[in-house]
Amino acid sequence: MLRFDIISIFPDIFSSYLEASLIDRAQKKELIDVHVHDLRDWTDDPHNTVDDRPYGGGIGMVMKVGPIYRAVKEIKEKGGFDQRESKVVLFTPRGVKYDQKKAAQFSKLKQLIMICGRYEGIDERVAENIADVELSIGDYVLMGGELAAMVVLESVSRLIPGVLGKPQLLDERVTEEKGFVEYPQYTRPEIFKTEKGEEWKVPEVLLSGHHQKIEEWREKRSKIIKE
Ligand code: 6GU
Repeated sequence: MLRFDIISIFPDIFSSYLEASLIDRAQKKELIDVHVHDLRDWTDDPHNTVDDRPYGGGIGMVMKVGPIYRAVKEIKEKGGFDQRESKVVLFTPRGVKYDQKKAAQFSKLKQLIMICGRYEGIDERVAENIADVELSIGDYVLMGGELAAMVVLESVSRLIPGVLGKPQLLDERVTEEKGFVEYPQYTRPEIFKTEKGEEWKVPEVLLSGHHQKIEEWREKRSKIIKE
């Protein structure tokens, strides 16, 4: 059982995703346990302030360290896991790139605490003292870490045995490294006709029943990916 704790100032963003997907089934099967927390629950003023102006001046607002500190402290205590079994991720566009290898590492943990940043920045003391790793999901800038948290949640969950319907990696063509079929696939109809009179055909070799030729074709086509 892997426990995910997501800390956000927009916890509602996660509801429909968590209810509709295989994530919901995985939770019911007690393979994962997802908790979304409202950072404002750990504020210490009547206005539930989570951000403030930057020291030294400058544009925008900065997320405060206090609420995040208290949130992570309480969530760690609630989990009660060993320090080695629990990790704290801070989402930020300057972080190290998230990849399948990280997903595999995370899937072995007992608890993954994810801090979703918003606004123009986060008090650096969060990165210095609270987070184990700063992660980015790609070279573009989002408005916050919420989508990144869903990306990590999904990519980690599907690696946990039992979350997907079928056992993974029994098919040797689905490599452990990449985790997906690399050759082109087709299903019915054999010929798809468009209203312009075009006919989009399935490659002949796949209909031939000639297994060795199919293997050779797939091997060759695995190297061609449209950019
Ligand atoms: Cl994790 N956060 C934000 N705000 N932007 C991003 C990102 C994360 N990863 C890529 N862009």
